[in-house]
Order: sequence, then structure tokens, then C-alpha cells
Amino acid sequence: PEECSVDSRCALEEVRGVPLLERIAAHWDRVAAFQAFPQDLLIATYPKAGTTWTQEIVDLILHGGDAEKARRAPTHIRMPFLEMASPNPALAGITELEQMEPPRVIKTHLPIQLLPQSFRETGCKVIYVARNPKDNMVSYFHFDRMNLIQPEPGPWASYLKKFMDGKCKLAWGSWYDHVKGYWKEKDRRNILYLFFEDIKENPAREIQRIAKFLGHHLSEEILHNIVQLTTFDAMQENPMANYSSIPDTIFDRKVSHFLRKGEVGDWKNHLSPEENAAFETHYMETMSDCEIPFRFVI
Ligand code: A3P
Repeated sequence: PEECSVDSRCALEEVRGVPLLERIAAHWDRVAAFQAFPQDLLIATYPKAGTTWTQEIVDLILHGGDAEKARRAPTHIRMPFLEMASPNPALAGITELEQMEPPRVIKTHLPIQLLPQSFRETGCKVIYVARNPKDNMVSYFHFDRMNLIQPEPGPWASYLKKFMDGKCKLAWGSWYDHVKGYWKEKDRRNILYLFFEDIKENPAREIQRIAKFLGHHLSEEILHNIVQLTTFDAMQENPMANYSSIPDTIFDRKVSHFLRKGEVGDWKNHLSPEENAAFETHYMETMSDCEIPFRFVI
């Protein structure tokens, strides 16, 4: 349908109560039937929590820190986006994944209850990355402004309300439900649960943890290389890691950039003292049934 062509913002349509881009909901049967293999690796996040950063780290680990190998193709070709659909069916994540041999590295933003059943059945490894909700929300706001297939974000004050709403109407649904869903299942389901703030604070430590989870041991030299290759500046300059292959008709770079700031605490430049106080109160209440150690500053 024309509603979802490349140059118009997508409407949202709910799948089991979770708002998704209409183009994703439209091919939901294919997503639900996706066949994962035991050797596959799933990188799962709420949008803007550090997906691309983690993908680059993982790809470098799997290739022994070889920068050239990691530059073989742009991120979304190397590690397809499971549920993403496109007006061109050949560009759907599922089509790309079906043409790849396992072990595949798969990106998803789906909340855990919407993952295709085969992920649970095969028990394949999952890396989940979570980011503190204030920075995550700010990053998502700027992304929704610049990504012309995402729904219109509207003004900041109303975006903040939408983010906090229990019936969140942002694409991929509620941040709160998302981070809790994976947290509650992490020990039962082979999930390495990481935090954006930890990677930022001590990338070497977190990269070594990811490597261990994947059954790799990194020498000090390779570890050092991966740290250098995955800094914000290095990735921003790397055309295979900075989404520069996505045309301006989709990413409006006059508005914002995919690698925008990459910091912890940028929320202080966006939330007024009143907004921050209201956010804190709501956060305490909403997260009281599931305490996850988020850090808002490092
Ligand atoms: P900002 O908008 O705060 O800059 P995702 O990949 O999940 O869409 O997340 C994008 C966010 O991760 C953006 O946040 C982006 O700048 C940040 N990011 C990507 N690579 C990074 C890196 N190497 N170091 C720090 N932040 C990074």
C-alpha cells in the first residue's frame, strides 16, 4: 500500500497490543514463522539503546578484530533487521536472513513476547542492550525527527508524555515493558543483558564480556583494536557503520544524524527541571516491580 512508500511516514498498527510500523504488522505472519538456528545470535534492543554500536563490537569479535572484514558491507546488510519490511520485498530483513547461512547475527527491536517462537525453541544466544530511559527517549525523539519512515514525533513535551504512557504509542511500544520483559527472562533464556552506560564507561571490560559470552578469547592487542574501532568518532567516520548508505529521502540529515552524540546524560539538555521531576516520580512507580540498575550519569 502507498501509505508506506519510502517518502512518507508510516502509521502504526498493533500486533498483540504492541504498536509496530504498519509495514511490519503487514507481514507479521512471516516474522512469526521465522526459523532461527541454534548457532544464530540475536541482538535485541529498544530502539536507540545502542544496537548499532553493539552490532559493530560483535562483528569485530567474530572476525578477530579484523577491521577490513567488518567493512565488507553496511551494518544492516551484515546483520539484517529481523522484522523490518520494505516496499521492495527483496529488502525485507527476513528475505535477507533466509539467504544467509547460520551462524547469523540478527538485529531486532521486538519485545520478548513478540519474538518468533523458534528463538525460544532453539535456545540461541541473545544479547540485550538497555539504555537509561531519559537518554533513550532523547535519542529516539531526534531519530523520529530525522527518520522519515518513523511516525511524526511532534513537539518534545508531548513526546515525553507518549514515552511515559502505559499504552505507549511509539513504535515498538513501551520502553518500560521492553526492558523488564528481557530482564525477567535473562537467566532462563541465555540472555546477556548489557547497559549502554557500562559500555561507555569501560568499553574494554564490556567487550571482553561479550566475547566470553560468544565463546571467544580476545588478546590484549585485539581487544585494544576493537575498542579503538568502536569509539563514537571511529564509527561516525566509518561508512560501513554509520548508516551513510541510507538515502536522504529516508534519513533527513539536515535534521539530525544517526550517530548523533553518543553520550550519557544528554537528557539534561532536554528535560526541564519540572519534566525531570515528573519523569522520576513516574519512573519509580513504574519500575518498582522490577528493579533494574539503570544509571543516568556515569
Ligand atoms: P544518540 O542519539 O544519543 O547519539 P541504535 O543503534 O540503537 O539506534 O542507537 C543509536 C544511539 O547509539 C545514538 O545515540 C548513537 O549516537 C549511539 N551510538 C552509536 N554508536 C556509538 C558509539 N560507538 N559510541 C557511543 N554511542 C554510540
